[in-house]
Amino acid sequence: MEFLSLAYAGVSSPAAREWPRFASDVLAMMVWEGADGTQYLKMDERKYRIAIHPGEKDRLLYFGWDVLDDEALAEGVRRAQAAGLEAGWASDRECEVRMVNRMSWFVDRNGIRHEFCFGQLREHPRSFIPPRAHAGFVTGQQGFGHAVLFVPDLEKTLDLFVRMMGMRISDETDLGPYGRAVFLLCNARWHTLGVLGRPGHRGLHHFAVQTRELEDVGVAYDACQSAGIPITMTLGQHDNDRSLSFYCRTPSGFDFEYSWGAVEVVDGPWIPTLLRKEKVSDGQLWGHQIIDAGPQSSIEIFDQE
Ligand SMILES: [Fe+2]
Repeated sequence: MEFLSLAYAGVSSPAAREWPRFASDVLAMMVWEGADGTQYLKMDERKYRIAIHPGEKDRLLYFGWDVLDDEALAEGVRRAQAAGLEAGWASDRECEVRMVNRMSWFVDRNGIRHEFCFGQLREHPRSFIPPRAHAGFVTGQQGFGHAVLFVPDLEKTLDLFVRMMGMRISDETDLGPYGRAVFLLCNARWHTLGVLGRPGHRGLHHFAVQTRELEDVGVAYDACQSAGIPITMTLGQHDNDRSLSFYCRTPSGFDFEYSWGAVEVVDGPWIPTLLRKEKVSDGQLWGHQIIDAGPQSSIEIFDQE
């Protein structure tokens, strides 16, 4: 199935009102508020990329996927229904709320709504005016970034993303007792989704965005510390996509990775690799020390048979 990239994502949070300061001061993004108090984060010419809806719990609600054409919208519904999932076409009102031309959707087994969209609202190419000097983010055909999820059943999740949605595996990491992480690609971005299988855990671990220039990661690292926002992984470099990044805890309980310089996956045969580590922090090229900022409220923990 042909789809292009992660167009947008939405979460709910009791801390939605804390986002304008965080997104502006730390992430260097523009923020605008919807009539219902939703905070919309703008980081390129698209009207928004991340939406924080006021809500009782910190929860990932939906992903929006850019697709190539109407046929892909229909194919998404067909495949989801064939897999026994609830799926359908969005109403005009739903399209208006998400600011897209046309949309179909399905809900996965972890309760996340996936929306295939055609024609997300785009503003002037120079409409992203960062709140501080900033060279902008890598978006375009690579979508707005990546997301990493905790899932209770990795095989079922891979069934969905790989076999139903047609994503490819960029690499896997076996973390022994900590689970198995699989990274999935759908364009030149090394991974658009990462899924970490951990029984009894479900939710959003982090979103990541990538800056065009290295300096903007450094400035954000300083800004994060000046704003008193907890850093959850110090500056360092990943051993898979080679990106240089740091992680901080957002007001909504999940983490945000701010990165630069990931290797791009070019067309042609891609050979996934498997990495074995004893713990999450092993095998980083350098840095990325984990700093415990407490449990993530965005991850639901439940009894699993
Ligand atoms: Fe990441």
